[in-house]
Amino acid sequence: MNDARYHFIPHQGGEPTIVGGEGCWLHTADGRRILDAAGGAIVGNIGWGRKEVADATHAAMVHGAYSVPIWPSEQRLLLRDRLVERWLPEGFTQVFFTSGGSESTDSALRLARNYQLGKGRPNRWKVVGRHPSYHGMTLGTIAVASHSTRQVGFEPLLLPFPKVPWNDAEAVVEVIEREGPETIAGFIAEPITGAAGACLTASDDYWRVVTDICHRYDILLITDEVMCGYGRTGLNFGFQHFPFEPDVIVGGKGLGGGYVPMGAVAARTEVADVLAEAGLMYFTFGGNDTACAASIAVLDIMEREGLVERAAKMGAVLGDRLHAELDGHPAVVDVRGRGMFYGIELRVPNAPVIAEALSRDVWVYPAGSGPVPSAVMIAPPFVITDDELDQVVTTLRMSLDAVTAT
Ligand SMILES: Cc1ncc(COP(=O)(O)O)c(C=O)c1O
Repeated sequence: MNDARYHFIPHQGGEPTIVGGEGCWLHTADGRRILDAAGGAIVGNIGWGRKEVADATHAAMVHGAYSVPIWPSEQRLLLRDRLVERWLPEGFTQVFFTSGGSESTDSALRLARNYQLGKGRPNRWKVVGRHPSYHGMTLGTIAVASHSTRQVGFEPLLLPFPKVPWNDAEAVVEVIEREGPETIAGFIAEPITGAAGACLTASDDYWRVVTDICHRYDILLITDEVMCGYGRTGLNFGFQHFPFEPDVIVGGKGLGGGYVPMGAVAARTEVADVLAEAGLMYFTFGGNDTACAASIAVLDIMEREGLVERAAKMGAVLGDRLHAELDGHPAVVDVRGRGMFYGIELRVPNAPVIAEALSRDVWVYPAGSGPVPSAVMIAPPFVITDDELDQVVTTLRMSLDAVTAT
């Protein structure tokens, strides 16, 4: 066990050491095979062991050289064009690359301020966030989010950003009017919450009100698609399930498929056009050629194998089976989600459920904070088979039974 050598990340002890993987399976150093029902940290969409991604990475590294991120490189331009032409909605022509979700959401906060600065409004510095939500582990993203357990110890939060409940449209109007629109740069939301709330969604009316008030006051509307973007919910982006019209789309995780650290902030042309001179600067490794090449290979696979459509199709099967097995279970409050993105809100603490599932060789993801104190998420690679889905759902049921019986 390498616990003693790996101290900075919270752990229970006894976690398996992973040496490789294939499809939906993780291989451990001691010869176990673990069914990955969470794509790691809800990252793996194309499954593990894809040689094509390794080949693309190798080629970029062999032929490549480092260049500062303000210079366009061949791989950066190829990935930008791919995203603009095939993945992003019409009108999103500008992409800023980062090395992951937190850097992307943090950059979106800066983008909102920079946009307002470019419009001559330096007093607009607040970005409204929601309860519950998670946007990353930089001090800026901790301040705009509301994930009680991940914020512990960081109070007072660096920036006193206003917060609203995830489903209350009137509260959004009220907070913007109370704080004063002339102080607000942006509004950030996960269209379908990830780890903080395990797939909570708001109504269509909520999103109409949010879109309307943000557009009315020129508050940048930012959708955090780090977890639910890039096909996870059965559409390219989670916001596309709702009447939600963002100005900025933030992604990470699935864009690199878990093979490389990669994130991207995409903005509408008219947003990027007014940015103040300082722009967003850059992270040294933003748009790293190797990471861009790997991401292009991930997107190639997603497109060629129709994996977004598969996430929708197999997701419907997953949802039906989860409801059939778990609705009415004494440990279960609610089963919700869509595509390859399901949350199971629990009446019992999630840690023993996750441990029970892992002891049966299935990895499910912990979630919950604030109004959703305990939950697990099922979010496997989109290539999961019917039999594997069965194994996931049956194992989760057995794990919940075991925890309830004790
Ligand atoms: C919605 C959301 N935003 C941002 C992040 C932060 O991403 P990362 O862990 O890649 O920094 C996460 C990570 O789980 C997330 O789920």
